[in-house]
Amino acid sequence: MEPLLDRLGRPLETLRVSVTDRCNFRCVYCMPKEVFGREYAFLERKQLLTLEEIARVTRVFAELGVRTVRITGGEPLVRRNVEHLVELLAAIEPKLELALTTNGALLAEKAGALAAAGLDRVTVSLDSLDDASFRAMNDVDFPVAKVLAGIDAAAAAGLPVKVNAVVKRGVNDAAVTELAEHFRGTGHVLRFIEFMDVGTTNGWQLADVVTADEIVERIGARWPLEPVALESPDATARRFRYADGAGEIGVIASVTKPFCGACSRARLSAEGSLYTCLFAARGHDLRALLRGGGTDDELAETLRGIWSRRTDRYSELRTAETAAKSKVEMSYIGG
Ligand code: GTP
Ligand code: 5AD
Ligand code: SF4
Ligand code: SF4
Repeated sequence: MEPLLDRLGRPLETLRVSVTDRCNFRCVYCMPKEVFGREYAFLERKQLLTLEEIARVTRVFAELGVRTVRITGGEPLVRRNVEHLVELLAAIEPKLELALTTNGALLAEKAGALAAAGLDRVTVSLDSLDDASFRAMNDVDFPVAKVLAGIDAAAAAGLPVKVNAVVKRGVNDAAVTELAEHFRGTGHVLRFIEFMDVGTTNGWQLADVVTADEIVERIGARWPLEPVALESPDATARRFRYADGAGEIGVIASVTKPFCGACSRARLSAEGSLYTCLFAARGHDLRALLRGGGTDDELAETLRGIWSRRTDRYSELRTAETAAKSKVEMSYIGG
């Protein structure tokens, strides 16, 4: 079969599947309480794709070339029986790489079941090790120790662990070296993420961003670092290893060095819309097709049509705009 490429020649390789729009945290930069309060209208159950519907769509995506599926949310572990979805996805041939991004709150409970169901690896978001700061950042007073216990449980269940930390200037700068020190030598891959503009709810400004270069400099000044090759051509993270052999870190420079050039990621929302970019304003409704008696061939044809017309490169355009405005030096990878 012809490889499926978009208008910029990019293949479709990764599917990020959101299984719920809900979360048990209210991180101030993501789901601030003022917006996501009691009266916020989250999706109702009948609006969500069922686990079987998600598995069906994923099977068709796999036929079109998808090799990695990442389960996300909201917080994916608040979706009832998410381990059954993992089981359904693990049965797809040829075998997919199955990853899951979580805030870790329910991981201590669920790691064993997820690993047994066929999950390959897990990524835990953790922005601070300081209990008071962590409780304030998640804004639901959740203790950091429980997330650390979740990471341990995942490792004990045999799941490789990555830890994602979003760094926001003036909020958790100190976390950079603290997290590096904590995770050096554990085998877990710590990755720092530039604080991104995710629309209008978080009042983004460039001054809030601690750049990836700055993070590498700060850590490298304490523990010398050496660059390592990308994990894959479409990777989000640039990698570095500690010269003393204590493992590796990554930096995700979505703002200063956007990686749209090789972006192979599609997103399926919890209500069954397909987005061809993290920042796409509009999705393509697949649920109507699924529930209206569409066949797998029709679904495949629809997906081919959507991907082959794709031109998204939001972060690159956004960075060019910001750079022009602020005269800050920025560069592109693979632009
Ligand atoms: P790996 O396969 O383990 O490397 O995962 P990943 O980095 O693709 O996914 P993860 O969920 O760990 O995301 C890490 C960070 O990168 C998060 O802050 C995401 O919002 C951001 N990110 C992931 N994919 C994209 C993308 O396509 N575009 C942009 N701009 N950011 C992304
Ligand atoms: N900028 C960068 N990363 C963000 N995340 C959530 N909001 C932002 C933002 N504004 C991260 C989470 C998680 C990942 C899926 O996205 O912390 O690690
Ligand atoms: Fe957003 Fe993740 Fe925080 Fe939930 S845990 S509010 S999804 S960043
Ligand atoms: Fe891909 Fe859009 Fe992210 Fe660029 S901004 S890397 S096109 S998802």
